[in-house]
Amino acid sequence: MADQQTSPAGPDLSKGVAPAEFTGTTLLGHVGDEEVLLARSGAGIFAIDAHCSHYHGPLAEGIVTGEGIRCPWHHACFDLRTGEAVRAPALAPIAVWKVEHRDDRIFVREKQAQPKPNVKGAVDAPGRIVIVGGGAAGFAAAEMLRRQDYRGSIVMLSQDAVAPVDRPNLSKDYLAGSAPEDWLPLRPDDFYAKANIDLRLNTEVTSIDTKTRRVVLAGGETVAYDRLLLATGAEPVRLPIPGADQPHVHVLRSLADSRAIIGLADGARRAIVIGASFIGLEAAASLRARDVEVHVVGLEQRPMERVLGPQMGDFVRSLHEEHGVIFHLGDTVTAIEGKRATLKSGGVLEADVVVVGVGVRPRLALAEKAGLAVDRGVTVNAYLETSVPGVYAAGDIARWPDPHTGENIRVEHWVVAERQGQTAARNMLGQREVFDAVPFFWSQHYDVPINYVGHAEKWDEIAVDGSIAGKDCLLRYKNRGRVIAVASIYRDTASLEAEWAMEKAAAS
Ligand SMILES: Cc1cc2nc3c(=O)[nH]c(=O)nc-3n(C[C@H](O)[C@H](O)[C@H](O)COP(=O)(O)OP(=O)(O)OC[C@H]3O[C@@H](n4cnc5c(N)ncnc54)[C@H](O)[C@@H]3O)c2cc1C
Ligand code: FES
Repeated sequence: MADQQTSPAGPDLSKGVAPAEFTGTTLLGHVGDEEVLLARSGAGIFAIDAHCSHYHGPLAEGIVTGEGIRCPWHHACFDLRTGEAVRAPALAPIAVWKVEHRDDRIFVREKQAQPKPNVKGAVDAPGRIVIVGGGAAGFAAAEMLRRQDYRGSIVMLSQDAVAPVDRPNLSKDYLAGSAPEDWLPLRPDDFYAKANIDLRLNTEVTSIDTKTRRVVLAGGETVAYDRLLLATGAEPVRLPIPGADQPHVHVLRSLADSRAIIGLADGARRAIVIGASFIGLEAAASLRARDVEVHVVGLEQRPMERVLGPQMGDFVRSLHEEHGVIFHLGDTVTAIEGKRATLKSGGVLEADVVVVGVGVRPRLALAEKAGLAVDRGVTVNAYLETSVPGVYAAGDIARWPDPHTGENIRVEHWVVAERQGQTAARNMLGQREVFDAVPFFWSQHYDVPINYVGHAEKWDEIAVDGSIAGKDCLLRYKNRGRVIAVASIYRDTASLEAEWAMEKAAAS
């Protein structure tokens, strides 16, 4: 007999619901043991999986926009008709059920065979597409090319030792010990062969000849392309101080880095994290989850103030202090001698492991050498094409014309990189899609997720709604009265609505 506590919530949708029971936009119910969400869009009623295929976010708490539903956690969007994940970070479709209207009731019938994804436009099929990079943008592009029914050859060249992984997890649950390593790959290893994607790992591209349309690999081999996507990401800044090259001092970018830090943290008594921004503080939270004493050394007076402002900065600091983190702000490490790290202020801290999270630099060398236009990032147009026709760029390296700010911007966000990879893929097939997504990122500290939509390099006012200390707030960053970005804690619906409003404002 089914355990009552684990039986799914809401009405049994296979038995039908009366219109009076379904007056809102969504209704959570179940069919058998599966949670199913009824969603209304205009006159249409759809039945879909109640959970997001990214991290299982509750779609009942999302919002319906057009014929899509957006996930409250990291803003993925699914097509209500087909279940297709039309906006990253979700990449896999969700199930859709057949809906029947009979005797003035709405019945959810059998699960449908997964409908084919939408092919957005004509597929002008270049013979071979080469992707340099096996990260967020590179993977999302390769996956989207196949979704768009591209039948030509895809070669993906990655300097990484492993197939694309969920990089954000490397500083969060995986580092904290609450996510096993088999959660990390974006797809199982056999996906690439099945999808006919020639993924070549441990492969460095050293130059590009845009005249003969070839990339040159470290061993001298060349690979010809018809279209090229550069998605080389960013590399961590290394500290130019004595002792930074010791084995217990680590940056955090790759799976190998995260594994090494876990190895060092195992049995460690104390860690120093250099850098009080996103990666550093996420690493600090994860190391605290492993019961390691953590000292954070950062040049800034308030953590994350540059991006999130003083109020959120103070909150983040006290949140970490409540969890036992000790801050040394306005300070830096000038030398590391064995386990002893010397601070500029004169003190000495001893640590078994040192994590360096002092920012990243976009990997522009290939683009610069190839003569592409570069301006603090690879310059791309609204279609993510570089100054050389047929060569595209996406992710952490790309500086694109953002229609929301009217400025050329470059950001280092997972979701933006994936969405740019997807748009670049469609454009490499000739679909001429403007990249107009509102930038989004999230960051996780203990049980507190911070979501951010928009882009604000400077602002003249921050309007706080709710309580930051109470972990229930929405901050609006305004410039001359216009909201240019919104940060929130546990205000997911409002965050989605802000994103939707920014999209509509740019479109009008
Ligand atoms: C630990 C960590 C946590 C993060 N957490 C978040 C988060 O919570 N939210 C968020 O929004 N963002 C987060 N980010 C940022 C996010 O991961 C990046 O913005 C995103 O990965 C950028 O994607 P990309 O494809 O541009 O680059 P990457 O994912 O870095 O991929 C670059 C790829 O290019 C390859 N490459 C580079 N040069 C060459 C070459 N010459 N030849 C061959 N291959 C090459 C690399 O090996 C790699 O495979 C995090 C980053 C890190 C490191
Ligand atoms: S859980 Fe839905 S987007 Fe991440």
